[in-house]
Amino acid sequence: MERARGGRASFEADRVVMSGGATGANETLMFCLADPGDAFLVPTPYYAAFDRDLRWRTGIRIIPVDCNSSNNFQVTKHALESTYLASQETGIKIKGLILANPSNPLGTTLHREVLETIVNFINDKQIHLVCDEIYAATVFTEPGFISVAEIIQEMDHVNRDLIHIVYSLSKDMGLPGFRVGVVYSYNDAVVSCARRMSSFGLVSSHTQSFLAAMLSDQRFVDNFLIEVSKRVAKRHRMFTEGLKEMGISCLRSNAGLFVLMDLRQMLIDQTFESEMALWRVIIDKVKINVSPGSSFHCSEPGWFRVCFANMDEDTLQTGLERIKDFVLGDRANKVNNNCKCRCNNKKENKKRKSFQKNLKLSFSSMMYEEHARSPKLMSPHSPLLRA
Ligand SMILES: Cc1ncc(COP(=O)(O)O)c(C=O)c1O
Repeated sequence: MERARGGRASFEADRVVMSGGATGANETLMFCLADPGDAFLVPTPYYAAFDRDLRWRTGIRIIPVDCNSSNNFQVTKHALESTYLASQETGIKIKGLILANPSNPLGTTLHREVLETIVNFINDKQIHLVCDEIYAATVFTEPGFISVAEIIQEMDHVNRDLIHIVYSLSKDMGLPGFRVGVVYSYNDAVVSCARRMSSFGLVSSHTQSFLAAMLSDQRFVDNFLIEVSKRVAKRHRMFTEGLKEMGISCLRSNAGLFVLMDLRQMLIDQTFESEMALWRVIIDKVKINVSPGSSFHCSEPGWFRVCFANMDEDTLQTGLERIKDFVLGDRANKVNNNCKCRCNNKKENKKRKSFQKNLKLSFSSMMYEEHARSPKLMSPHSPLLRA
């Protein structure tokens, strides 16, 4: 954990409790911190499986704290305070706040000031803070990642009993199948409770012994983390620049294995129904598996998360080609039909620019209408969530 945080925070071995991945760690913390019916605040958009992991067996509730693109979806004090107040007014007991930093699905890290605001907020209210730091080392450009463990080292007034960290080897070390996660709590009672509960999600001794050998090779781990972040950075650049050439922008991101693509201009109208319709077209016609923002409880329609790291470069290029055909297809047809021989480069550039201003017009509107009006429109729940 220390190495994944660049050695800037120290952790005590006694406070570590193993679990079945971050999934198990998050659930264990909910069992330890809340009773059925209690609630946790979660800034949006948030990791879709929180709905399952945090709630299904514990009976806790999730109260979304809406964030928006005007400030890159960073949570504000105002959003926290107003959601907290509104929940209290309806009699809901808020037990804490949980967030993923770096964020899934945003691919961004929390700024120091935002993290301080959050820590001050939970400390004022005396509620818990769970930081899921599963992507701690999967950060590839500035600003770097700051763990809550670093922040509280500098905030003496904060009640540390309220702070809990979740980590896992699934992302940074690329070992999701090993099911190795960690609860790290500054609260003795939580450590003790989580340890007792860990019987329900033990990591096998074979796995532990194998990993102990691997992780004790410090040089290997350091080199591995550096290499991964270089490769993810390269892949991120390839993908976002490829999209940019087509006039598609992404939320500026510096971490994680995905980007949030901004397709708001392609929606017929700014509704989640249109988002779903577009998602259907992308799945059925473009044959690319993207996730619509609504599955992450995004407050604005038109954002789609794309994973760019779980495939080789050729596959990524194929994906980009498909998106390009989809987005530029209509324009190319028009150009070919209308000005077969007269069309010179200058004109084409001009058309491309005007097309980019209005992507909505750029693909077959019939194809879109057909799906938008389809009564069979399905929700994009992943097989994971249907399980
Ligand atoms: C933010 C976040 N938390 C938890 C998990 C689940 O991780 P694990 O495989 O370690 O259970 C994921 C996986 O995508 C994730 O993105």
